[in-house]
Amino acid sequence: VCGAKTAMFDFDTPTHREESDAEKYAKRQKLFGTDEVYPMWVADMEFRTAPAIIEALQARVAHGVFGYSESDEELAHIAHSWCQKRYDIDIPASHFRSSPSIMTSMSAAIEALSVKGEGVTTMVPVYAPFMESVTSQHRTLYTVELSLIDGAYHIDWEALERALAQSKLFLLCNPHNPVGRVWRIEELARMAQLCETHEVTIISDDAHADIVRSSHRYLSMATVAPLRTVTLWGVGKGFNLSGLGATLYASHNSALVEAIDEVFHARHVVRGTMMGFLALKTAYTEGLAWLEAANSYIDTNIAYACHTIDTQCAPLKAIAPEGTYLVWIDCRGLGLSDAALKDFFVHDVGIGLSQGRFFGAGGRGFMRMNVAVPRAQLREVLTQLSNALKKN
Ligand SMILES: Cc1ncc(COP(=O)(O)O)c(C=O)c1O
Repeated sequence: VCGAKTAMFDFDTPTHREESDAEKYAKRQKLFGTDEVYPMWVADMEFRTAPAIIEALQARVAHGVFGYSESDEELAHIAHSWCQKRYDIDIPASHFRSSPSIMTSMSAAIEALSVKGEGVTTMVPVYAPFMESVTSQHRTLYTVELSLIDGAYHIDWEALERALAQSKLFLLCNPHNPVGRVWRIEELARMAQLCETHEVTIISDDAHADIVRSSHRYLSMATVAPLRTVTLWGVGKGFNLSGLGATLYASHNSALVEAIDEVFHARHVVRGTMMGFLALKTAYTEGLAWLEAANSYIDTNIAYACHTIDTQCAPLKAIAPEGTYLVWIDCRGLGLSDAALKDFFVHDVGIGLSQGRFFGAGGRGFMRMNVAVPRAQLREVLTQLSNALKKN
């Protein structure tokens, strides 16, 4: 099935991004001390985006005029229709807003919906900018460590309730980067109940909503706690368009949207670019077949990576992600310090990964590997990893 689905699109040909202002490549020297490393850190894909999007952008480039742009009502309607069909979210189109990045929206939401000193809770390990956007705005950060039990991550409900009792906001990550959980309805309902009890507003970062294993289903907190939730997402992860800054925020609760709008207005935040708007509209109207093929390719890559790590890379253990294309690897069995672990992957294996310690408590001794890469490349990298471990 996978072969038939992906056959229409090419995920196998290397894309050679070295000279394309790609952060993943440009920062190799700075982060890893060498350019001789295959970068598997930043969460973007080594694939060209959907052909329909490339064609639409090419036509716009040919027009040659790149004056000020505006995200129009059509964009909101297209996004609304995508959310309704794909995620079962029925937020009115008039509550949709475009934003240059998810973290811009999150930062603005924290500013709009809390004041200095108030508590903001998140579950860790988590995408590090969550924590920075809380502390840099002088809110009090409460982190709740997820528990790893028999290879799967679970919520410590008592700890979560203690933190929420002191908080104004809850930053949820769904699917959760880096541990790969796609939160179940029962979990979302219990989180929502706690937020209701303690009058906490939920900012749900659903950046990875479009990258979910075929065995799992993404469900949005917006459907569970509609009046308490602002959802942030975009086409960056699913369609590999993060360089175009095409993201959105929306809520059933117009007061939450308007509060964030005020911060955007006060800071003169540009809501995106014409290329981003066009890419987003095209992705949502013509990109579905490509997205399904990409997910299918990623499903196979993840299964292959997890199986290889678990069977040929002892003592490493892979946490199979339910969503995202990021494999969270438990490297604690090696008994290395974080610095030595990084050195091992850079110098002995030849790959640049994200270090677990940057994701907060519970991240030490883990590494995050982005497997949205051509399969031949993944095979090579995993062989290098297995060989390096045998030598050690
Ligand atoms: C959970 C999560 N949120 C946000 C982002 C960044 O999104 P943006 O570049 O739109 O701020 C990432 C990128 O990896 C992410 O994993």
